[in-house]
Amino acid sequence: MSNLTATAVANANLAFVKYWGKRDDALRLPTNNSISMTLSAAQTRTKLIFESALDADHVYLAPENRLASPGFTARVSAHLDRFRDLAGIRRYAEIRTMNTFPAGVGIASSASGFAALTLAASAALNLHLSERQLTVLARLGSGSACRSIPSGWVEWVAGEDSESSFAYSFAGPDHWPIRVLSVIVAQEEKQISSTDGHALTRRSPFFSARLETLPARLEAVRRAILERDFVTFGQEIEQEALSLHMVAMTSPLETGGAWQSGAYYWTPATLELLLAVQQWRRDGVPVYFTLDAGPTVHLVCPESAVGDVRSAVAGLQARQPGRAWQVLENQPAPGASLVASPA
Ligand code: PMV
Repeated sequence: MSNLTATAVANANLAFVKYWGKRDDALRLPTNNSISMTLSAAQTRTKLIFESALDADHVYLAPENRLASPGFTARVSAHLDRFRDLAGIRRYAEIRTMNTFPAGVGIASSASGFAALTLAASAALNLHLSERQLTVLARLGSGSACRSIPSGWVEWVAGEDSESSFAYSFAGPDHWPIRVLSVIVAQEEKQISSTDGHALTRRSPFFSARLETLPARLEAVRRAILERDFVTFGQEIEQEALSLHMVAMTSPLETGGAWQSGAYYWTPATLELLLAVQQWRRDGVPVYFTLDAGPTVHLVCPESAVGDVRSAVAGLQARQPGRAWQVLENQPAPGASLVASPA
C-alpha cells in the first residue's frame, strides 16, 4: 500500500441561479436547484499523500507553504475521513493546496478547494468513483463544490437525500462564448461566511418569496443558456443575484454583541459598479452583473464585448485615485481533473 498520492486541479464556479439556504445542514442539502458556470481564471491545485508515518493530517497552503488554521484543517480532515472510510484505511495525509485567486472575496474558493480535494483523495485511494459520486462527496465538503466537478455549464439538483443531491453538466465549456470579468474591489475576508449566511436565511421575511420564484427562474436560465439567449439570461441572473442579497440583508443577526439588521456583503464600490452596469447598458454595452456572498462584482458579457467592458471598468476605477481593483477574466472551463505528474 505505498504511494497513495494524487494531484488534482479544480476551478471555482459562479452560480447564476444561487444556492442560498439549506434543507439539511449536516448533509448540505440545498433548498433549491442551482446553475453555474465553471470559472477558468480561478483554480485550486491540490496535492495529497497518505503516509503511514503521519500522526495527523497536515494542510499546507502554497506558495508560502504555511500551515492552515486548525479550523480549516479540521474541515479537511473531516472530509478525508469520508474517503478513508470508503477505502477502509486509517492513514493520515499531507495536503498541499494552492489557489490562483484570493479567498473570501466573493469567489468561492471552498468550491474549487473541496472539488480538488475530493478528486485527489478519490484517485489517491483508487476508489474509482463516477462523476456523480464525486459530486455527492464534494457537496458534503462544501455545498457549491459539487458544481466544480463537472465541466462548463452545470446544474446541482437539490435532491431528497444525500445520494440524489448531485451536479451534472448540461452544456460543455465550448457551448457559448460568454465571458465573466470578476472585479475584485476589496481583498479583505468577508465578515459573515457563506455557511453562516445559509443558516440565517429563514430569518428573512423574503426567503419564502425568493423560493417561490426559483422554479421558474431555474427553467428560464437553463433555457437561455441552451438557446444562447443573452438578454433573457442577463435579466434573470441580475434579478437573481439581487434576490439573494435582499434575503441576506434582511436576515438579522448579532455581531460583536450588537443587533445587525442583516448580512451586508457589499462595499460602496460594489454598489457603484451595479449602478454603472445599468448606465453601460443604456450606452449600448451588452453586460449584466451577478454577485456571490462577497463584494466582488461579476460582469457577464459576450466575448465580443470584453474590450468595451474592460475599458468601462477602467474608466470607473480611474474616477477615484488609489483604487486597487483586480479583474479576473473567466470563460467557461472544464471540470476537475487529475494532474499526471505531481507538483
Ligand atoms: O458552498 P458555500 O457554502 O460556500 O455557498 C455558496 C453560496 C453562494 O456562492 C453565495 C451561491 C452559490 O450558489 O454558489
